[in-house]
Amino acid sequence: MAKLITVFGATGQQGGSVIRAILQDDTLSKEFKIRGITRDILKPAAQVLLKQGVELISADMNSKESLIKAIQGSYSVFLVTTPAWGVAGSDAELVHGKNVADVAKEAGVQHLIFSSLLDVTKESGGRLKHVPHFDHKAHVEQYIRSIGIPATFVLPGYFMTNYTSFGMLRKGDDGVYTLAYPVGKDAQFPLVDIASDLGKYVAAALRNPSESLGTQLFAAADYYTPARILAEFEEVTGKKTRFVQVDSETYKSFIPGPMGEEMLENHLFIESPGYYKGQSLKDSHDFLERFGFQSTTWKAYLKENKSLF
Ligand SMILES: NC(=O)c1ccc[n+]([C@@H]2O[C@H](COP(=O)([O-])OP(=O)(O)OC[C@H]3O[C@@H](n4cnc5c(N)ncnc54)[C@H](OP(=O)(O)O)[C@@H]3O)[C@@H](O)[C@H]2O)c1
Repeated sequence: MAKLITVFGATGQQGGSVIRAILQDDTLSKEFKIRGITRDILKPAAQVLLKQGVELISADMNSKESLIKAIQGSYSVFLVTTPAWGVAGSDAELVHGKNVADVAKEAGVQHLIFSSLLDVTKESGGRLKHVPHFDHKAHVEQYIRSIGIPATFVLPGYFMTNYTSFGMLRKGDDGVYTLAYPVGKDAQFPLVDIASDLGKYVAAALRNPSESLGTQLFAAADYYTPARILAEFEEVTGKKTRFVQVDSETYKSFIPGPMGEEMLENHLFIESPGYYKGQSLKDSHDFLERFGFQSTTWKAYLKENKSLF
């Protein structure tokens, strides 16, 4: 009988990627049936999943009661949490992660795959204390490890969609695309095509739990400096670019509210000690490639998404 995998964030980029990767994989599509979690079964993205044969259950990570029905019977769970953006001091993401972990433990889940990140406060030695969307995920990872659920941690890199959906690469009046960062042009950004690739790492972990349990997989195609990001952008799109390093106050003024400080420190962390503290991506790539998966490069992403610029 097929095992059940419950996918949180099923209607979003990461959960959606996980579902597509399982459905497209000959082994996993036979091994697992998929349950997707959403707060609104009627939304169009949920209805698409239903048509693909995904079971849908409505649950809210705020409510442990709703999570019991959502997780019951699951062999595996994919969990992605999201912050309450712009709500200063919110610990919603931490609460959501712990709620799912507690219910998964109670339900006897055999493999929890959590979308994690590093603890910026700790890894920067207390220099950068305002990046809760990293810190809370690291604390959830720590909690999952402490209560002893068999788990794999997939740490997504810096989304390539940041340059499209969030307009980080902006066309100026002179027609030149400007990338303005509070870091130097040699900072290392581990880029990921999140909707295409996150699911590949999760699928590889599901294909070989004995090797993936307890590990961190870094989901990123490569480290890219701003200089390389722009050079490859020019090569693929034929458009002109410029890099501008701005000071911290100018950078914060681009982003209103508490997110300004959070995004500033997030980027300072990427510069030093580094998004993954400078750790190599090689082991994660080797693991991915053994199961026939390839990550999507920035150039390939740009070729696919040229029309967005
Ligand atoms: N931007 C970057 O470079 C970057 C890098 C690394 C990590 N991240 C992290 O990636 C995460 C976002 O992932 P994504 O892009 O996949 O998100 P997304 O596309 O915005 O989707 C969020 C998903 O979470 C679900 N959700 C939200 N609140 C929920 C709740 N209370 N209970 C149950 N489900 C809930 C939503 O489901 P419904 O709305 O259908 O209920 C939706 O499916 C964030 O935590 C961010 O920090 C971002």
